[in-house]
Amino acid sequence: MVKYAPLAIAVCADKNREKFPGLWALDCSAAAENILLEATERRLGAVWTAVYPFEERVKGIKELLNLPANVIPLCIIPVGRPAETPAPVDRFQSFVYPSRDVVIPSRGRSPRDQTFVAPTNENAWDKAFNRNRLQRC
Ligand SMILES: Cc1cc2nc3c(=O)[nH]c(=O)nc-3n(C[C@H](O)[C@H](O)[C@H](O)COP(=O)(O)O)c2cc1C
Repeated sequence: MVKYAPLAIAVCADKNREKFPGLWALDCSAAAENILLEATERRLGAVWTAVYPFEERVKGIKELLNLPANVIPLCIIPVGRPAETPAPVDRFQSFVYPSRDVVIPSRGRSPRDQTFVAPTNENAWDKAFNRNRLQRC
């Protein structure tokens, strides 16, 4: 795919400029998603092709692009004119937490699709969100 695309964007992190150590992959993922959204907005075709965390791919792309040791590629995004425009697929999955107030209304069509009850109880839920520090939405 990338071989035939007129453009490919390598989304990379510069580890020397990392503001919050350990978050580079998440930061770059957000950047990659924004690139995909912008490409779609411009009616272009684009796809995330994974590099990190596959060591062989990271090594290969680093060599190919001659990247310095501190720069790590997260993904390559080939961009071009889309060859096809498949219809969007609705993969929305609602969920209801059993005892309390987080309820997302379902858009599922069959009863089986309508609710996913998380396999947890209220204590586990509160513990996970550490009530004293985080507000539940
Ligand atoms: C983290 C991540 C890595 C991906 N890696 C690849 C990849 O290596 N090759 C590829 O063709 N698509 C890759 N994709 C794209 C997915 O296969 C898929 O096309 C994309 O998520 C859109 O899916 P959808 O249109 O079916 O919703 C990746 C997507 C994500 C989010």
